[in-house]
Amino acid sequence: MNLLDGKYVSEKLKGEIAEQAAAYLAQTGRKPHLVAVLVGHDGGSETYVASKMKNCEKVGFKSSLVRYEADVTEEELLAKVAELNADADIDGIIVQLPLPKHIDPEKVTERIDHRKDVDGFHPVNLGRMQRNLPSFIPATPYGITLMLKEYGIETAGKHCVVIGRSNIVGSPMSILMARNTTPGNCTVTICHSRTPDIKKFTLDADILIVAIGKKNFVTADMVKDGVVVIDVGMNRETSATNKSGYKLYGDVDFDGVAPKASWITPVPGGVGLMTIIGLLKNTLASANKEVYS
Ligand code: GUN
Repeated sequence: MNLLDGKYVSEKLKGEIAEQAAAYLAQTGRKPHLVAVLVGHDGGSETYVASKMKNCEKVGFKSSLVRYEADVTEEELLAKVAELNADADIDGIIVQLPLPKHIDPEKVTERIDHRKDVDGFHPVNLGRMQRNLPSFIPATPYGITLMLKEYGIETAGKHCVVIGRSNIVGSPMSILMARNTTPGNCTVTICHSRTPDIKKFTLDADILIVAIGKKNFVTADMVKDGVVVIDVGMNRETSATNKSGYKLYGDVDFDGVAPKASWITPVPGGVGLMTIIGLLKNTLASANKEVYS
């Protein structure tokens, strides 16, 4: 078993991004600028957004946080998005999900200027990604492709099974793995909550990407020897012994599955750390007008 080490890869790539940000600053006199919008006080979202802001500072980006209480109206939020779209000093805009029930996330996503949509959630970016045109690629799937590339994992011709079909991970991941790119060129199967006998598919997987949000969902009896396992699970449970007050669990039973895997991501220390890299790379690409000129 070999570890796909998110800590190692993310630190290495952060160093590269910091160098590129410094070159951008020298050339233009400004820093790439990411704005995050956070609504309410969801514990997970608070943690993720704080980490995004902190990492922006680390690599020499400017970052701004716009906060609203959970009772903000959809209208007010959309007006803020319009204001951020129009601000020439902003390269990337993210609205942290999930949003409170009275706000339509699709409406908010579509209102963000696709040229600043560094989450890659806007339909224009999704469509361009599917066509293999320049686009912003959703941060978690993007981070996973960077990790596969870093370790030189062969994907062409392999059977990639993705568990989960969310807009944020499963769905874009399946598109990326099927595209004629490296990594990519897989035969892709998407399993989800309505798939009977998921084990039938996972047992045939050469590459297994799990983003279903259930602790220990994938067990040793569900995988074949030599499988590459990417665990996207971020299941938080309160813990009295951890200093943060919670402990993170993946979707894969690591101790059971790891002995059968050729490569596997740990949780924490795997995919979670790569997500921020995807976001930073998109923000830098936006500042450099690499995707949309
Ligand atoms: N919620 C969970 N993951 C993400 C993400 O990548 N971007 C945003 N905006 N919200 C999220």
